Amino acid sequence: MTLRARIWGLLDPTSDGHAARRVRALEISLILIGIFSVSAGTVDWVSPAARAITASVTGIVAVLFLVEYLVRLWIAPENSHRHSTTEARSRLRWVVSAEGVIDLLAVIPAVAAAFGGARLGAESVSVFVLLWVLKLATHAPGVGLIARVFRNEGSSLGAATILLVIVLVSAATIARWVEREHQPEHFGNIPASLWWAVVTLTTTGYGDVVPQSALGRVIGGLVMLCGISVMALLAGILATGFAEEVRRREFVRIWELVARVPFFADVGAIAIADIVGHLRSRSYPAGTIVIYEGEVGDSMFFIVTGEVEVRIGPRTIALRDGSFFGEMALLDRKPRTADVVTVTPCTLLVLNVADFYQLAGRQPALIAAIDTEAKRRRADER
Ligand code: CMP
Repeated sequence: MTLRARIWGLLDPTSDGHAARRVRALEISLILIGIFSVSAGTVDWVSPAARAITASVTGIVAVLFLVEYLVRLWIAPENSHRHSTTEARSRLRWVVSAEGVIDLLAVIPAVAAAFGGARLGAESVSVFVLLWVLKLATHAPGVGLIARVFRNEGSSLGAATILLVIVLVSAATIARWVEREHQPEHFGNIPASLWWAVVTLTTTGYGDVVPQSALGRVIGGLVMLCGISVMALLAGILATGFAEEVRRREFVRIWELVARVPFFADVGAIAIADIVGHLRSRSYPAGTIVIYEGEVGDSMFFIVTGEVEVRIGPRTIALRDGSFFGEMALLDRKPRTADVVTVTPCTLLVLNVADFYQLAGRQPALIAAIDTEAKRRRADER
């Protein structure tokens, strides 16, 4: 693998490896440090010495973003989604993408500092916060998820928003009829009473405009109740959309992991789809005791990557990617027969006992294959 491909593996936002996750955490920390240092520079009571330190930190962060931009430009052709006929075109596609534009904006502080030097005051530096906070959107995990939820739920959100607008405009119009005589300055025209409607409907209630007449207050109360209902509707749509999207993503992620376990190669797609919904992935560092001999078995494990060691007395048995363990306690309903320890960092798929028994009913062939291997292991121990 080339150096460029390796660096892409680290910086690809969809990479799930330990190193890629660490790099992502580092980038987010850098953005937060940059935002903190710029913000601290705008506080009056910060001493000149501390101000000098924050200015240096801001400068370092700006330069690191510039380096990152150049690296991302270099590795852009590695992104399979932006493959083009030439490397230069692939790079251009990245430069004009939302991510590329935001990364370019984040570089402006470094360039401004190089040309503006000491003349850059705290006020102009404070613009950096805006540029860097945008960068958070492209690197923070889960932001893409929010965008996806908004796309998926577009029509429901649109309907709820239209409802909001109907309530808002009706409330503003009716409130104007009722309150116009009492407070012409606040309810004299529809745009003016819309301000009151927005503040009331969102239950913000600044208190700068308050209905004076009894009927006006009744309308105000109704608008508040409508506001709570419409907001609850919007929150409900978003919460359901999130749960759905997270479930879908987790399903695809586990499906990809399952595809790497040879044990599942002979199992049909329907059985795999059934088991995927019940598996959870877990990462363990080397040297972790995953199973203790004698404890009650509450789950079994499939090895996606890494190696574990089964310790039965003085004997050790190595199990690698594609194998599984922890099945005996579930099949025999007896305590664990051995310690199982990770030898290298491992990614495991965990199937809990309740799901194991449910699957046994629905997918007997799958459990039979596990049982056959367990029998072989028991014979091997004798
Ligand atoms: P369980 O008894 O639930 O917990 C310990 C696990 O070690 C056991 O399930 C098996 O998965 C595994 N194990 C025990 N004996 C052997 C063996 N001889 N070969 C491979 N794995 C074993």
